[in-house]
Amino acid sequence: MSRILGIESSCDETAVSVVEDGKTIISNVIASQLDVHAPHGGIVPELASRQHVMNIAPTVLKALSDANVKLKDLDAISVTNGPGLAGSLMIGVNFAKALAASTSVPLIGINHLEGHIYAAWLDEVDPANDIGFPLVCLVASGGHTDLLLMEGHGHYRLLGKTRDDAAGEAFDKAARVLGLGFPGGPAIQNIAPSTLSKETFTQPHFKSGNALDFSFSGLKTAILNRAKTLGIYPPDLTNPSESLIADLAGGFQEAIVTSLVSRISQASQMFNAKGVILGGGVAANSLLRERAKATIDLPVITPAPILCTDNGAMIAACAHHKISSMADLGSQLSIDIYPTWRLGI
Ligand code: KG4
Ligand code: ZN
Repeated sequence: MSRILGIESSCDETAVSVVEDGKTIISNVIASQLDVHAPHGGIVPELASRQHVMNIAPTVLKALSDANVKLKDLDAISVTNGPGLAGSLMIGVNFAKALAASTSVPLIGINHLEGHIYAAWLDEVDPANDIGFPLVCLVASGGHTDLLLMEGHGHYRLLGKTRDDAAGEAFDKAARVLGLGFPGGPAIQNIAPSTLSKETFTQPHFKSGNALDFSFSGLKTAILNRAKTLGIYPPDLTNPSESLIADLAGGFQEAIVTSLVSRISQASQMFNAKGVILGGGVAANSLLRERAKATIDLPVITPAPILCTDNGAMIAACAHHKISSMADLGSQLSIDIYPTWRLGI
């Protein structure tokens, strides 16, 4: 049995978890910084680092005590060492190094995007394992929108990526235009009507290049112009036009989901995928989850929403699979941080 501590501090959540065998979550603690960043309408890197400094030790201690596990009982300490905000990454990595150095528990650095994919293995029945490979994986978060072919554990090919904004970033910017607050994804999902919106947005058309790429910056400009034309931008928070805002939010969500699902579907046919994994904060979106399952005639693995947004369990799950395939973990006490680390290039 393996028992791994997962530490995640790449962005705005200090998150720590203890996971057994890459699968069973024994504890999962998330110290959210939402209240700190929300008034600024987005993440302020300097504030994020400071919050991590304050939260990292109590969060690690709580994850260990919730799991009723002592440091010396751990088989490994895993930590996100990229991609992400440099200052935020450094807090988690240095804390993990200190823990590892003082206990002689092995340390392993994990790619945050790969962690998002491994959230799929945190299910009781381990569905991803049964399906086999290749799997088409979408990692859609605040900073990335990558479509990957997972050909085996730890083996990825980048099939497509966003040419401009990430999907989560587009949700966040659209929510700001509509006066819905931060983070934008959940705000847009909550206000969007369950029926199709009257307001629709056209899909971007690529004249050249990779057809599996994404583009969301045009949508962001389109919703801003539409909101101006309809007289609801700048948002009048004292007199919000609820139904108009909801309709625009619904149309915007529909456009993003259509763009994501069409590429996933196309890629899974092109590469004879055995299944699909949705990961990253945007994969918490209920329309995306439903639409992908309804459209794609393959198993579509959608981790619980709390495991799609940033968490330590996904880092520990990924570490378990990495360590299983390593002859000797060795000493990773001198690992660096990689703020722009990509997967599958
Ligand atoms: O993976 P994540 O928690 O952090 C990063 O690695 O960036 O993703 C955060 C992003 C934010 O942009 C947020 O608006 C978006 O995920 N998000 C959602 C939903 N929940 C979070 N987007 C759409 N629908 C949601 N329900
Ligand atoms: Zn993330």
